Amino acid sequence: MSYLKEKFYFFKTDNLAAHITVEDFRESILGRIGNIDYISEGYTEEDLPQQRDLSIKFHWGHSHDFGDFQVDGLMKNRHVELLEKFIDIFPVTVESFNDKSILDIGCWTGGTSLLLSTICREVTAVEEVQKYAKTASYLMEAFGVRGEVLSRSLYSLNDENYYDSFDRVYFPGVIYHLSDPVLALRILFNTLVVGGDILIETAGFDSDEPICKFEGNYIYHPNGTREELNRGGWNYFKLSGPALESMMKEAGFEDIQFHWDNSWGRLFAYGKKNSQIPICKAGLSVPGIR
Ligand SMILES: C[S@@+](CC[C@H](N)C(=O)[O-])C[C@H]1O[C@@H](n2cnc3c(N)ncnc32)[C@H](O)[C@@H]1O
Repeated sequence: MSYLKEKFYFFKTDNLAAHITVEDFRESILGRIGNIDYISEGYTEEDLPQQRDLSIKFHWGHSHDFGDFQVDGLMKNRHVELLEKFIDIFPVTVESFNDKSILDIGCWTGGTSLLLSTICREVTAVEEVQKYAKTASYLMEAFGVRGEVLSRSLYSLNDENYYDSFDRVYFPGVIYHLSDPVLALRILFNTLVVGGDILIETAGFDSDEPICKFEGNYIYHPNGTREELNRGGWNYFKLSGPALESMMKEAGFEDIQFHWDNSWGRLFAYGKKNSQIPICKAGLSVPGIR
């Protein structure tokens, strides 16, 4: 078993906090899966055709064997494999996480945040879908994990309370969901301390040109069910490596490396915040940003 798989092995019912029984825990986890709830996400019935089914219906994110029971996640064991991949291709080691506070963006049901918590000083997870943020928070409490979950969009981190706060931003599987990736990158840049870094993974394509392909939320699968329709098109931009690199530069990152992986069919990137360099304000959707 790999080192990180073994670390994730901790999160079994045997290691639940004393105030949580296995029965309550199992009921709480399994009771969430498949629930349809748009009201707590702030939607009305009229909003529904425009929304992602992942925001409406509860889907588990990363697969998890809790010992007494298992849940299959839509992203399978990606949380472990992805972290292994970053460590394999970029200048980051497991040890480099040890003394760091990590910002985990788009944590879904929290599998990655739990895993990160085993190797870092502190993890702060961010998730815009409330039902998932609550679940990740419940898991952290249930296993006594150091850290917190912010139930909000990453855009709301554009706040001086989050400036210069984290040593590393972990940002896989989210940038293509964003309507404003440059703004998001700048906000995340501002959350980093000088010397901090970012790890990004995204859907994209292999090209030497700095190309962004716009898909948008309204590209629906032509013959799908409503659920498939909603799932069909919720990627805004797919990026090539040079496009992501240029966006990261715009946002202030330096020492950028990117890597297109054919077997994953995904793009990986790494960048550093060497200093708090200014950003060009012309045309920015939030011109007042730091
Ligand atoms: C494809 S999943 C990736 C999960 C995990 N980061 C990973 O890579 O395995 C994307 C997650 O990001 C969340 N997300 C999308 N846009 C977001 C935003 N603006 N702020 C915070 N979370 C967001 C989604 O709700 C979802 O849970």
